[in-house]
Amino acid sequence: MQIAIDGPAGAGKTSVARALAQHFQCLLVNTGAMYRAVALGLSQNLQLSDVHIDVLPRERLLLNGEDVTEQLYTPEMDELASQIAARPDVREVLIAKQRQIAQRQSVVMEGRDITTVVLPDADVKLFLEASVEARAQRRARERGEEYHSILEQIRERDQRDGQSFARLQITPKTIVLNTDHKSLDEVVALAIKAVQRALQGRNISGKLSQ
Ligand code: DC
Repeated sequence: MQIAIDGPAGAGKTSVARALAQHFQCLLVNTGAMYRAVALGLSQNLQLSDVHIDVLPRERLLLNGEDVTEQLYTPEMDELASQIAARPDVREVLIAKQRQIAQRQSVVMEGRDITTVVLPDADVKLFLEASVEARAQRRARERGEEYHSILEQIRERDQRDGQSFARLQITPKTIVLNTDHKSLDEVVALAIKAVQRALQGRNISGKLSQ
């Protein structure tokens, strides 16, 4: 089973994807973390062809066999990942890797281009949307940082992320969930319902737990 989730930075994708992966017993693949791991490798002067990423259960990520999970969420990696995500050679390698992972097991895969490019035929496609202010508030709370500087950073990243690939798009079969003014629990409950409905519609049993 393939559940694809897209949305802009700070819309709550990772939290929702985590909850769905647990509920439907799938591997969670956070593709943003993969771009961050490549950024880390390139910052260590590795060539792209020498960068090998493994996605493990429980959101662990290996760079050439070393667990780098704890090194990925720094302001430097926010910046660098956003820059290297604009490189077509980086995208080509990571998209191929992401498709390979999704062919081998059931996944909840989240990112920016999963519903459109990586897994356009996923069983369920979700798009989480939220206002830039709500996204900045969420990030500021999560990271304990100042709201206005986060707001500015998110605006800049939205703009650069939009230049990296064919902008965030919503395909006709994608279910859009707006997360403004909703708690995580409310969004997760809506997402689970949306997945169940979509799977029933496609007559796929998946591993639904009631
Ligand atoms: O979701 P995130 O902030 O961890 O993503 C890190 C960077 O990678 C972000 O600048 C957008 C980019 N990215 C991408 O280009 N394509 C994806 N599928 C996922 C993330």
